Amino acid sequence: MIVTSIFRIWLLLAPTVYSAPFLEPAVQAEYDAIVIGGGPAGLAATSGLARVRRNVLMIDSGEYRNDATRHAHDILGFDGVTPAWLRFAARKQISDYGTVDLVNGTVTEVQPQNNNTFFKVLAEYPGNKSVSFTTRKVVLATGLRDILPSTTGLAENWGKGIYWCPWCDGHEHADQELGILAHLDSAVTSVREILTLNKDIILFVNGTDTPANRNITEGKFPGWEKYLKLLNVKIENRTLSSITRLRDGATPFADPSLPSHPEHDLFQVNFTDNKNPILRNAFFVDFPSEQKSKVGQNAGVQLYGNKLAADSAGGLVTNIPGIFAIGDANSDNVTNIPHAYFSGKRTAVFLHVVQVERENSFAQIAAAGKRDVGEDELQQLWARMNEPGDITHAGDRFDAQY
Ligand SMILES: Cc1cc2nc3c(=O)[nH]c(=O)nc-3n(C[C@H](O)[C@H](O)[C@H](O)COP(=O)(O)OP(=O)(O)OC[C@H]3O[C@@H](n4cnc5c(N)ncnc54)[C@H](O)[C@@H]3O)c2cc1C
Ligand SMILES: *[C@@H]1O[C@H](CO)[C@@H](O)[C@H](O)[C@H]1NC(C)=O
Ligand SMILES: *[C@@H]1O[C@H](CO)[C@@H](O)[C@H](O)[C@H]1NC(C)=O
Ligand SMILES: *[C@@H]1O[C@H](CO)[C@@H](O)[C@H](O)[C@H]1NC(C)=O
Ligand SMILES: *[C@@H]1O[C@H](CO)[C@@H](O)[C@H](O)[C@H]1NC(C)=O
Ligand SMILES: *[C@@H]1O[C@H](CO)[C@@H](O)[C@H](O)[C@H]1NC(C)=O
Ligand SMILES: *[C@@H]1O[C@H](CO)[C@@H](O)[C@H](O)[C@H]1NC(C)=O
Ligand SMILES: *[C@@H]1O[C@H](CO)[C@@H](O)[C@H](O)[C@H]1NC(C)=O
Ligand SMILES: *[C@@H]1O[C@H](CO)[C@@H](O)[C@H](O)[C@H]1NC(C)=O
Repeated sequence: MIVTSIFRIWLLLAPTVYSAPFLEPAVQAEYDAIVIGGGPAGLAATSGLARVRRNVLMIDSGEYRNDATRHAHDILGFDGVTPAWLRFAARKQISDYGTVDLVNGTVTEVQPQNNNTFFKVLAEYPGNKSVSFTTRKVVLATGLRDILPSTTGLAENWGKGIYWCPWCDGHEHADQELGILAHLDSAVTSVREILTLNKDIILFVNGTDTPANRNITEGKFPGWEKYLKLLNVKIENRTLSSITRLRDGATPFADPSLPSHPEHDLFQVNFTDNKNPILRNAFFVDFPSEQKSKVGQNAGVQLYGNKLAADSAGGLVTNIPGIFAIGDANSDNVTNIPHAYFSGKRTAVFLHVVQVERENSFAQIAAAGKRDVGEDELQQLWARMNEPGDITHAGDRFDAQY
């Protein structure tokens, strides 16, 4: 009798436990997503996740690919902004959302767990502090590193009058005396990329004007020799020994509301023969690049060429379910800030809707199925403890009173 009464009180409280849906996530982890890298791609993914209140941690080691450049261009509404300002403004706004942590640190390892249903992420924070987190999804936004040739003066002046992308810095050096610095075949095709901006062009091919390379070039661009003659473009085949800055074209006092200002740099190129140096205002170059970080590959992510293979039909997921790759690092093979934004956003949407919440819904529906089993057990308990004839008898079904 006492037992029965207690049981009835418990039952009055029970509906909150038994009737309300158990909206448990499919997997328990500290974060819905950890974004590795805080360049434009990582920031875009983090923003997209923050806006829908995903618990997201962005860990960034702060070695941005375009750190060396004076201004970033072809970013709508922010054309000519400094890269640091662009990141600062983004971080400031994103950190206003309640479910986001933005931290400085270097991820050292991503360990897939339980058939990729969640991941352990190990990182080093400043001051040699080791940390580790669990997360349901991982977004690799780790970027690329440019491999600069060893020629003296190249690394020192990289991004400041020596650039690799017409959209990035070409307009600032329009109509100036330009050098193209690349292997013969690439130097020749680069002429077509830059011809709307520059006419006075010398190709610095650094010893690659060989019969074999001419053959490769003819295969890529039939008639190239005639084309260079028509445009009066000269090939300089001597081996470079140094590039020295004679004038700095930075424009620190130019009107920041305008997207583009001419940058009048001047460089002297010396050669190993120590004869006849050449002056040029700017260089348009083609150098190789590599993955900045190995954490993706070490976790088992496959490469296409030297890029993290990402499936654009699957929100840029890699071969490892739950690990995504965005920005310069991925196999879209597009390396600019608009792509970094696009790909970050694409993964954020996919991760939020198609992955995490879909998995949650499956788990919740399955849990609701289990609840029926629970109700059966409860009905049996009710019948056992709420016998007909007892004065506290409350009906045959435990839920009849509601
Ligand atoms: C000189 C130069 C000028 C450029 N100018 C322009 C321009 O004007 N306009 C334009 O659209 N594009 C420009 N680009 C291209 C642009 O820089 C890239 O497309 C863009 O930076 C890609 O963004 P991302 O986020 O993928 O990579 P990144 O910006 O390189 O960011 C990657 C981030 O990941 C971090 N990271 C890497 N590994 C780890 C790890 N293990 N743990 C934690 N963090 C990690 C890095 O430290 C870095 O902060 C330029 C590039 C160069 C080289
Ligand atoms: C993170 O690093 C940036 C420079 O990359 C620095 O300005 C900032 O103060 C650092 N933040 C913390 C919390 O260490
Ligand atoms: C692992 O996950 C994949 C889906 O990502 C699934 O097809 C496979 O059956 C799972 N393996 C095990 C052992 O659960
Ligand atoms: C961090 O560890 C490295 C070696 O792993 C050491 O060289 C460095 O001095 C340490 N820095 C600090 C701040 O303890
Ligand atoms: C030019 O070639 C020399 C010799 O092969 C090499 O050391 C140097 O890095 C090259 N420089 C450039 C800009 O390609
Ligand atoms: C270009 O330089 C390379 C390396 O020094 C040399 O082998 C080649 O013959 C040169 N080409 C021409 C056209 O002089
Ligand atoms: C140039 O390429 C052609 C094929 O396009 C080949 O037959 C020829 O042997 C090549 N010559 C040299 C010097 O590499
Ligand atoms: C380049 O060559 C000139 C002379 O031709 C010389 O004065 C200068 O010191 C050289 N620069 C370098 C970096 O060697
Ligand atoms: C990117 O380049 C790699 C080769 O380096 C290739 O395998 C991959 O298919 C390319 N991706 C796209 C989208 O073209």
